[in-house]
Amino acid sequence: MSIGPERLKGRVVLVTGTASGIGLATAAALVDVGARVHAADFRAPLAQERLGAHRLASGLLTVHQLDVTDPGAVDALLDRIGEEAPLDALVCCAGTNVADRSLEQLTDASWRLLLETNLTGVFSCVRAAMPQLRRTRGHVVVVSSVSALWPDASGPAYQASKAGVLALVRAAAFEEHERGVRFTSILPAMVATELLHKRAKPPSPEVLAQCLQPEDLAATIIFVLSLPERACVAELTVLPNALQVLGQT
Ligand code: NAI
Repeated sequence: MSIGPERLKGRVVLVTGTASGIGLATAAALVDVGARVHAADFRAPLAQERLGAHRLASGLLTVHQLDVTDPGAVDALLDRIGEEAPLDALVCCAGTNVADRSLEQLTDASWRLLLETNLTGVFSCVRAAMPQLRRTRGHVVVVSSVSALWPDASGPAYQASKAGVLALVRAAAFEEHERGVRFTSILPAMVATELLHKRAKPPSPEVLAQCLQPEDLAATIIFVLSLPERACVAELTVLPNALQVLGQT
């Protein structure tokens, strides 16, 4: 049996956060290897434009309007997808941060936004997808962050949300692995995406050029999804080699 990306041909995959960055690159790469991709974002028109007419014309791509902080909308989308064909994989990339992110600057509203998007949003998607993923012995991939492991300048709310997501994925894997569902946390360090421009002082062009690129994470996610059912990458840390090593921001 093959172990490459050809295993993903015809697989049904929902990717969230597909209007930019890691989710956009992952959805595009999955379509390009022949997966049947549902791409969801609260900026769906932008996702559609950036994924390109040629991918839409392939018949392999459907773009959905979805705010992951609305559990009713998440449930409704998963119902619609399941009626067509059950999911083989869920890839959670939707996430955000705020400029005013230090403990001194965080407000009730910004704390809630980050926890509801980065943590509760993942929970809602996973919960809604589980019945289908149990049937297909599917795979959940969640983009957490190295900031779940060591402190950096991303702020306490962001880091709490990313550590929470890491714990959610570990706990879900503990409960579900005997049913054949695999769970993976991807822990990237700096990736040159719109997220970095939400910093009060975005990185310089020189630093951005040394960062990981969204396509690097897409390739990582494709690799993880391409392994045989018996093999599960539980957690994977990905670093921009010129900029960071383990434990250093
Ligand atoms: P990005 O800002 O380019 O992409 C985030 C995507 O999520 C956008 O398409 C945005 O429209 C979507 N989104 C945000 N809130 C949403 C909501 N409520 N409902 C639906 N869609 C929503 O940023 P990036 O870097 O691609 O982020 C992807 C994931 O990677 C995030 O979870 C982020 O926290 C994580 N990450 C990013 C790192 C980086 O350095 N860029 C490092 C470590 C983790």
